[in-house]
Amino acid sequence: MESLQAYSAPLEGRRGLLRLDFNENTIGPSPKVVEALRAIPADHLAIYPEYDGLREAVVANLSQAGLAHPLGPDQIGLFNGVDAAIHAIFHAYGERGDTLLSTSPTFGYYTPCAHMQGMAIEAIPYEGPGFAFPLAAIRRVLLDEPCPRLLLICNPNNPTGTRLAPQPILELAAAAPRTLVVVDELYEAFAGDSVLPLADFAATPNLVVLRSLAKTAGLAGLRIGFAMGAAPVIDRIGRVTGPYDINSLAVTAAHAALADQPYTDAYVAEVLRARAWLLAQLQAAGVRHHAAGGNYLLIWPQAPAAEVDQRLRQAGILVRSMAGKPLIEGSLRVSLGTTEQMQRFWQAYQAADPSTTP
Ligand SMILES: Cc1ncc(COP(=O)(O)O)c(C=O)c1O
Repeated sequence: MESLQAYSAPLEGRRGLLRLDFNENTIGPSPKVVEALRAIPADHLAIYPEYDGLREAVVANLSQAGLAHPLGPDQIGLFNGVDAAIHAIFHAYGERGDTLLSTSPTFGYYTPCAHMQGMAIEAIPYEGPGFAFPLAAIRRVLLDEPCPRLLLICNPNNPTGTRLAPQPILELAAAAPRTLVVVDELYEAFAGDSVLPLADFAATPNLVVLRSLAKTAGLAGLRIGFAMGAAPVIDRIGRVTGPYDINSLAVTAAHAALADQPYTDAYVAEVLRARAWLLAQLQAAGVRHHAAGGNYLLIWPQAPAAEVDQRLRQAGILVRSMAGKPLIEGSLRVSLGTTEQMQRFWQAYQAADPSTTP
């Protein structure tokens, strides 16, 4: 425990600023979510949370996308955010001396979870100037003996946006039945690919898919995430969580958010419009950038990234420095919000990186 390093979570004091630093929803949840939260009677706060019906609501929501193999409620795990699902997966499956196979750079929380279990980490770098998924190298290590206990695929990857089609993921899972293949699909709704519509958890019980209402539906502050997989796997992951880890407000909000998919769809569509607008500006101004999946992109300023980061902060805009991250050192990760917000960002960016030539 002494040697563990904490995952660096969002800083304090972010309210009131334009927060383009943690890929959150930038406008908040559906008004129906807010209404449902306001309608909670005081005495409901005095009783332990009740989860009945929530798994069914997740199934109904996911089914809208069309699933080749319908899911049952016992195939849905409920967690206090996908962070908690990730932690539980490592806790339930990772043992001292086991290996986590993943990619680099990727979402930062996998590493401390592996270290907590005493696991070794094999992180394969993304490839080439486009940060392509290192499929051949992953397959090679996956099929090596002893096989990794866990393979974590963040798809699209945070922070490179790298997308991987469902078919290769299904093939990896089928080829490595003794490895739990976890696909973190936090950003699939924003220019991404999901393995869920094709997943057959009966045929590949070693596959787990993670989804959250944090980034799309705007519930990051309430903490609610889901794991989908074979019922025995979901049961095993759920055994290492407390009985009431998800609070009542998150449950109420999740029901309302899942029932108002059109609101989330409209937000995602707006983010994609904003993405196209910002990409056009970056291209016209000749600013080095990389955009693939997800509600974020990478920008390499001409001026030192730390200075641009600081100037943006002074202008009331937060972005995330990628300092110290392999392959993308010197870049800033900018989350995408509405077109209006990206217009504000772009104006401030041009002033913060003066060599930007429109
Ligand atoms: C790839 C990825 N997975 C999981 C999480 C955590 O999600 P949640 O807010 O549902 O805990 C994040 C949050 O930034 C993320 O980027």
